[in-house]
Amino acid sequence: MTEELLEEKHLKGDTSLVSRVRLVFLGPPGAGKGTQVKTLSKILNVPSMSTGDVLRSEVASGSELGRLAKNYMDRGELVPDDVVIKIVEKWLREGNAKRGFILDGFPRNLRQARELDEILKREGVELTAAVYLDVPEDEIVRRLSGRLSCKRCGAVYHIQFNPPKEDLKCDACGGELYQREDDREEVVRQRFRVYVESTRPVLDYYRDARKLLVINGLGTIAEVNKRIIEELREMTRGRVG
Ligand code: AP5
Repeated sequence: MTEELLEEKHLKGDTSLVSRVRLVFLGPPGAGKGTQVKTLSKILNVPSMSTGDVLRSEVASGSELGRLAKNYMDRGELVPDDVVIKIVEKWLREGNAKRGFILDGFPRNLRQARELDEILKREGVELTAAVYLDVPEDEIVRRLSGRLSCKRCGAVYHIQFNPPKEDLKCDACGGELYQREDDREEVVRQRFRVYVESTRPVLDYYRDARKLLVINGLGTIAEVNKRIIEELREMTRGRVG
């Protein structure tokens, strides 16, 4: 997917979107945040981090943090703020705040959004934009019911919209593809409720700060990607460098 997009004229040799953007991605579960962030991170050459991926790898390793997180994730609830903020702060302070970054799945509520601003302030940098992928609920159900994720590298596929070349095998690393525990219907419903109650207010927070970029998340993965790039280019013109 990335290679195909890079081949496209709108991205090839483009230096107007420089490599120090600092972005967070917001949107309901299954909106396509992970899919877009993984691709954009390569295109823009900035590191990305998904709090969901980090927590899932802690669960898989059986660590103390993983055991704690699993209780919340299996129910579709947010993992406690202190735990997640510590993970993000550590990652940003390791040089990623300065290099530019994309965060997937953070912030999830107002406290996390405010803490992120404080962390960035201490690092002497500012968020470029909060990218909100707007996708209606019925489309989310279609996307999550067919999602496959790689056990090894976290790459995301869809049985219909973005199938792997070989059944249940990751194109990128050959790892085994599986269906996430929290993609069961009742858990998806709870995740959506949590999104409406806790994460939606974060949109206003960034709208008030004039950092919100609303992207229509419907259409193919490449179409959505193109929209994000175009909107970012417009927003950051003459601002980031
Ligand atoms: P997390 O992993 O962040 O889950 P989420 O936000 O619910 O988002 P998803 O990963 O489900 O969806 P996505 O938007 O990334 O969509 P994707 O690209 O995969 O969090 C999981 C749990 O961890 C939380 O419930 C919570 O417990 C905990 N957690 C994480 N962060 C936390 C935080 N900050 N604070 C507290 N707790 C936290 O796409 C979905 C499917 O659609 C894929 O199959 C994909 O191939 C397909 N697709 C993508 N785009 C398109 C398109 N344009 N057209 C067709 N199909 C598409």
